[in-house]
Amino acid sequence: MQDPKRYTITAALPYTNGPVHIGHLAGVYVPADIYARYLRLNGKDVAFVCGSDEHGVPITLKAKAEGITPQAVVDKYHEIIKKSFQEFGITFDNYSRTTAKVHHETAGEFFKDLYEHGKFIEETSAQLYDEEADQFLADRFIVGTCPKCGFEESYGDQCENCGTSHNAQDLINPKSVITGNKPSLRETKHWYLPLNEYESFLDEWILKGHKKDWKANVLGQVKSWVDDGLKPRAVTRDLDWGIPVPVKGAEGKVLYVWFDAPIGYISSTKEWAERTGKDWEPYWKDEGTNLIHFIGKDNIVFHCIIFPAMLKAQGSYILPENVPANEFLNLEGNKISTSRNWAVWLHEYLEEFPEKQDVLRYVLTANAPETKDNDFTWKDFQARNNNELVAIFGNFINRVVVLTDKYYEGSVPEPNSFTEVDNKTLDLLAKYPDIISSSIDRYRFREALSELMNLARLGNKYLADEEPWKKIKTDAERVKTIMFVALQIATGLSVLCEPFLPFTSIKLKGILNSTGFENLNWKSISTEKTLLPANHQINKAELLFAKIEDAEIQTQIDKLEASKKSQVTVELTPQKETINFDDFSKLDIRIGTILEAEKIPKTKKLLKLKVDVGIDTRTIVSGIAESFDPANIIGQKVSVLVNLAPRKLRGVESQGMILMSDTTEGKLSFIEPDADSVANGEKVS
Ligand code: 2FM
Ligand code: ZN
Repeated sequence: MQDPKRYTITAALPYTNGPVHIGHLAGVYVPADIYARYLRLNGKDVAFVCGSDEHGVPITLKAKAEGITPQAVVDKYHEIIKKSFQEFGITFDNYSRTTAKVHHETAGEFFKDLYEHGKFIEETSAQLYDEEADQFLADRFIVGTCPKCGFEESYGDQCENCGTSHNAQDLINPKSVITGNKPSLRETKHWYLPLNEYESFLDEWILKGHKKDWKANVLGQVKSWVDDGLKPRAVTRDLDWGIPVPVKGAEGKVLYVWFDAPIGYISSTKEWAERTGKDWEPYWKDEGTNLIHFIGKDNIVFHCIIFPAMLKAQGSYILPENVPANEFLNLEGNKISTSRNWAVWLHEYLEEFPEKQDVLRYVLTANAPETKDNDFTWKDFQARNNNELVAIFGNFINRVVVLTDKYYEGSVPEPNSFTEVDNKTLDLLAKYPDIISSSIDRYRFREALSELMNLARLGNKYLADEEPWKKIKTDAERVKTIMFVALQIATGLSVLCEPFLPFTSIKLKGILNSTGFENLNWKSISTEKTLLPANHQINKAELLFAKIEDAEIQTQIDKLEASKKSQVTVELTPQKETINFDDFSKLDIRIGTILEAEKIPKTKKLLKLKVDVGIDTRTIVSGIAESFDPANIIGQKVSVLVNLAPRKLRGVESQGMILMSDTTEGKLSFIEPDADSVANGEKVS
C-alpha cells in the first residue's frame, strides 16, 4: 500500500459542561497525541484537530443547574478544558469550539447541501412534550427505561448502560428531566437522515472492507447495529440552544448536536488552515489522506455509522481510515462520574502533582483501556512511577549522566573498538524505532510504551553487565567505549520517548545538550551510526522522575473517600406538621448512661437496657439489637425521652425511649452529647 500523503487526526470534541478528567485523557487525548507526535517525528504532514462541543442538552441542563446562560457555561469550561490540554502537552494543531462562527457556517452549509440534494426525509410526527416547561423533550431532557437492556435511567438519545442509541419515543415510562412530569405528545416537523439506505454501504466499507485492521470492539458494535437494522435518524431538534436549521419552515429549530459536532472536526481544520495559510480541503477530500478518529466507545455509532453516512451523502469527503475507539477507564473500581465527583480532574491533578504530567501520561498509557475497561488506582500510579519510571528509565539516565560527568567531566568519550556485546547492543538500539512503530501503527500504545521501557531496560542491563564503575580502575580505555554506547542508548531514548513522555524528552535532551540536533528523529535512531558524537559536552544530571511517597497517595485516596461520603444521598422523609412551643416543652429529654444491656430472647431487634437518667435508674426496651452488641454499649451516653408513658414490650415494661438516628449504612447511631462533662439527668432542650 502507498504511504498516505497526509494525516487528519481528530480527537472527540469534549462537552463543555464540566472539566476533563483522567478517563478522557486515557481514552482519547493521550493516544491521539502519541499518534500525532509520532507521525510528526517521522516527518509526516499532520493536521491534529479538536475543539469544544458546546451545543446539546447537557450544556442547557448545566446552565439551568448553575442559573447562568448556556453561553456562560461553555465560555467557562472551554477555557478550563483548553488549558488542561495545553498543560498536559496535547499538541492539537487547532483547538476550536462549536460556537465559533466558522463552525456555525460550516455545519449550516453542510445541512443545506444535504437538504438541497434531497438527502433527508421530512416528517411531521408526535414527539414528547413537557406541558409545564412548555418545551419538547429531546435527548437528555428525557429519561426512561431503555427498550434494549431495561436500564431505568436511559437518556432519550442514548442508554449509558448498554450504549444503545435510540429515539426518545422508544423509551418505556419516559419522564421529563426538567419537571419530572410524564410527557405528552405534540406534533412537530423534523428532518431525518435515512440511515437504512446506507446499510449496504456500511456493510461493504467497514464490516467487509476493514474487518482485519479495525479493532474488534468497534467492528462488534457496528455489526450489532447493522444486524439490528438501521432506522432513519432525526438530525434536527426543537431546542433553543444550537445551530439554527438554515431552511424555510424550520424556524425555532436547531441541528441535533451529534449532527453538528463531528462537522466540528472540519471547521477546526478550516480554522487551522486559515491561520497557517494552508488549504483545508485536501485534509478532508483527497483520497491520499488518512483520516483517523480517536474516540471512546460511547461514540462509536456516531463516528462509524452516522458521520460516515453524512459524509457519504455529501459525496465529496473521504471516510475514516480507522476509528481506534477505546473502552472506559474506571477509578478505584468504580465508574468515573462527573455528577458524583468520582474522578481525578486534570486541573486538580496538576495542582497536587505539579510538573508530573508525564507520570500521568505514562500510567494512563501503560494501563490504557485499549481492549477492555481498565481500572486506575492511586497505588498502581505510585507503583508505576516508583518501580518503572524512577527505577528503570530514570535510574539508567542518571547512571549514564553521573558517570560521564565523573569520568570525563561531561564530555562524550571517544570509543575504542566495539566488542560483540557493544555491537549487539547498538544493533538492538537501531531496531527500536521499527519495533515501537509496528505497535503504534496498529494503535497499540500500551505495547509501544512497554517496548520503549524495554529499551531503558536494555541500557540498565548493559551497564550492569559491563560494570564500568569496576572497570574504571583496571581498564579505563574499555570504559570509554562502554560509556559511549550507553550515551547512544540514552540519546535514542530521548527521541523515542517523545510521543509518550514529551516533557521528559525535552528535559533529557536538555541534559544531553542535544536540543535542536537536526539529525535526531525517529528514523535516524536506526540509520545514524552515531547519535551523540565523541567530545560533545553534556550537562549535569537532573532527576527525570522523583519517587512518590505513600503519604501523597494516601492524600488522594482520602480525597476520593471524602467525595464518596459527601455524595451519599438518603431518602429523607418530609417534615412533620408544625407544633407549637408548648407541645415541644412537654417532652422531657435527659442525658443518661447505659449501665446494663441484654438481648430479649426470641426477638431480633430488642435489647433490655438499664439506664441511669440522673433522676433514677430505669429499664428501657430499645429496638437496637441489630446495630449494637450489648457488651459494647455499657457506659454509652444517650439521650432519653423520660416522660413517655410506660409500655410493655415482650413482657418487659419500658420506661422511656432512647433517641437514635439512622446512619447512611443502614444502622442506628446514638444521639449523645459531644462533651464528657455532661452529667446524667441534664436536660436536652
Ligand atoms: O461524548 C462526547 O463527549 C461528545 N461531546 C463527543 C463529540 S465527538 C465529535 F463528534 F464531535
Ligand atoms: Zn440500555
